[in-house]
Amino acid sequence: MTTELETLRATAEACQACRLAETRTNVVFGSGSPDADVMIIGEAPGKNEDLQGEPFVGAAGKLLDSLMEEAGIQRDQVYIANVLKCRPPGNRDPRHDEIDACKGYLRRQLELVEPTVVVTLGNFATKLLLKTETGITRMRGQRYRWWRGIVVVPTFHPAAALRGRPDTRAAMQQDFALVKETIDNPPATES
Ligand code: URA
Repeated sequence: MTTELETLRATAEACQACRLAETRTNVVFGSGSPDADVMIIGEAPGKNEDLQGEPFVGAAGKLLDSLMEEAGIQRDQVYIANVLKCRPPGNRDPRHDEIDACKGYLRRQLELVEPTVVVTLGNFATKLLLKTETGITRMRGQRYRWWRGIVVVPTFHPAAALRGRPDTRAAMQQDFALVKETIDNPPATES
């Protein structure tokens, strides 16, 4: 497992499939346990992530860490990746062609890690995985049975909680409790 993920990482690190290859400092492939029960999917690397080559190393990452700790989810149960592996200049929104060029990496990460639960942070990850146009405010708070029996739990992006209303954090707390409940009582796999 690890070997294939590492091979995929090496391929991503040399990727030239979209314009973001020209402006990135580092490819931010993903981090965490290759045997994780939970895969958390963000949007795209920010400035700190681009500089360090690791996802969620800034303030949003600290918030994620606290939410996981509060829910009783261990770091070694988690793998973290983003929809885009390279930073969009100035942290602008990902573009459709960039998502199309990058989504194969995420799909392969999902196949290799085989998590029980996927947490999609914000609109970009939620819309990509669940193929929906419905916004995150309506999608969150529920579980969705997805590809290969994986359960998807959409929640807000931590950046929204950092700049937004206090009830955004409380909603994320509820969503992470739902994640914990799901990994403790995984749904039966369909035959
Ligand atoms: N925001 C994201 O969506 N991903 C990161 O890795 C950092 C901030």
